[in-house]
Amino acid sequence: MKHSIFFKTILLIVLANNVPAFAQQPLIANIESRQTQTLNGMWKYIVDPYELGYYDYRGQVRDTQNDPNPSETFFLNYKPVHPSERVEYNFDASDNILVPRDWNSQKEKLFYYEGTLWYYKAFDYTSVPNRRQFVYIGAANYEADVYLNGKKLGKHIGGFTPFNFEITGMLNPKDNFLIIKVDNKRGLEKIPTVNTDWWNYGGITRDVQIVDVAETFIRDYYVQLSPKDRTSLDVWVQLDGKNKANQKVTLEISDAEIVTTLTTDENGFAQKTLKTKVLNYWSPQKPFLYQVNLIHQNQKLTEKIGFRTIETKGADILLNGESVFLRGISIHEENGIRGGRAYSREDAQMLLGWAKELGCNFVRLAHYPHNENMARVADEMGMMVWAEVPVYWTIQWKNEATFLNAKNQLTELITRDKNRSSVIIWSVANETPVQPERTQFLKLLIETARSLDKVRLVSAALEQHSVEQFANIHTIDDPLQQFVDVISFNQYIGWYSGLPESCKSVVFDIKFDKPVIISEFGGDALQGLHGTKEERWTEEFQEDLYIETLKMIDKIPQLRGVSPWILADFRSPRRPLPNIQEGWNRKGLISETGNKKRAFFVLQEYYKVKKEAFETKK
Ligand code: GCU
Repeated sequence: MKHSIFFKTILLIVLANNVPAFAQQPLIANIESRQTQTLNGMWKYIVDPYELGYYDYRGQVRDTQNDPNPSETFFLNYKPVHPSERVEYNFDASDNILVPRDWNSQKEKLFYYEGTLWYYKAFDYTSVPNRRQFVYIGAANYEADVYLNGKKLGKHIGGFTPFNFEITGMLNPKDNFLIIKVDNKRGLEKIPTVNTDWWNYGGITRDVQIVDVAETFIRDYYVQLSPKDRTSLDVWVQLDGKNKANQKVTLEISDAEIVTTLTTDENGFAQKTLKTKVLNYWSPQKPFLYQVNLIHQNQKLTEKIGFRTIETKGADILLNGESVFLRGISIHEENGIRGGRAYSREDAQMLLGWAKELGCNFVRLAHYPHNENMARVADEMGMMVWAEVPVYWTIQWKNEATFLNAKNQLTELITRDKNRSSVIIWSVANETPVQPERTQFLKLLIETARSLDKVRLVSAALEQHSVEQFANIHTIDDPLQQFVDVISFNQYIGWYSGLPESCKSVVFDIKFDKPVIISEFGGDALQGLHGTKEERWTEEFQEDLYIETLKMIDKIPQLRGVSPWILADFRSPRRPLPNIQEGWNRKGLISETGNKKRAFFVLQEYYKVKKEAFETKK
């Protein structure tokens, strides 16, 4: 089906069927460099499994009613004015909860909770005239309905990407209240769908801030090297506000001796490609970041940005024109030591620090967009990044709303991280079944990524299988291979199929002259459990599996990277085995308490050799 007819059909159905419009108010870039007031800290909450605060007993959505019943409509934060009055909720008298954090790891009673929970934060705010304010939320899993001072601001769907709503003119000097209904219930039509091998952490998992900007401000911008050309820089800026047309915006990169001015068009947009001198190109060995300033009138936005090119040539992945081997590890966004979702710079430094110790120059952030701190710390540490949207296993490929949801999550991810030098690959899916609707769905996501970002590579974690009659020959029978830049697949030979021994006879037959990444392999081991290498769940079994697997995959001529599953043990509701798993997927090379397993050192040694081989080859 032709691309545009598909989209046209989608739009018509969206309009006709009131499929929720996923596209939000456009994202504001680089919050870190803006004037903000944080709302992080202690909030109040109400657990609402029957969604009393949202639906009346006839199932009508209260925030669509003209006169919702205040005694049950939570977003009104109504207080009884007379002792006889019936009001059946009271945020001020409710329990406390931290933001940012998932609710599961904070409250024993919420550990398994999947449903609606209402967050409440009261705050004062001093705003000055001719300024605009937005509430910016780093992420809330899964569906968030946001209200300020009793007014609905909007809804966001998707648990791992940021969103913002304008609140100019809605703030009072005192006693504002922000109420956010967060619902992490799983659903077949959702992204991800009902079945995942990770914990469905619910809540406001990342920062919440009030962003204060000028009436007309630089909302978004892009500063990256042109694709395949290290001597020119592509720049665009987008102003937002009444006076956005015909405005001068200055780009300053003093260390690169660049000062240039862009003039916006009637839509407040300006772009330019400018020649540069030879730059200090960003790489894992030298993660050089330039101070980039964008100035409009008296507003100055500043950001640290690295410049590098990334491309493929035949089976090679070229970083700044040089062939690289991606010495990787897969990571879930979890801090097993504290418990719960990772969110802070410190969490990112811990996880990426472990990857660095392993000898990595690459991480696969699985299976959903991780917090912005991960990509920023990866920029600083010199770690290349694979970023992914949670199109995971078997979703509703024919459902237009599901497609729009996936597309929106991908768009929000790329919009947020498009200036990160560390991010080199966008992944649109993981282990999805080969069928026409699926391939069409993913093909359109790939086109979406390419339309939003001309620089980075696109891939997806595919599956492999043995060829009939030749059990030792394994291949990837997936038409999606022709649409991706890098052929990536997960393989669990020696764990889900056979024993490590079977790796010895396996040969991969990959037909494409494209780089190959093994995006997952591994096996569970309980840290501290020792035995023979034949005994599953022991460190010795996992160690042997790594030894045999690395030898097996090293025979693939197009192999240019690996990201074994996984850096650290992580929580999963699919892992009940008593005394071994206890709700943890134990494929980590490090336990949830931070202790390394024997296989950690096998991979560390393999990367030492790979590094020498690849870097001395130059
Ligand atoms: C899959 C999947 C992971 C999962 C892993 C496992 O391949 O992509 O999300 O955790 O295998 O089974 O441990």
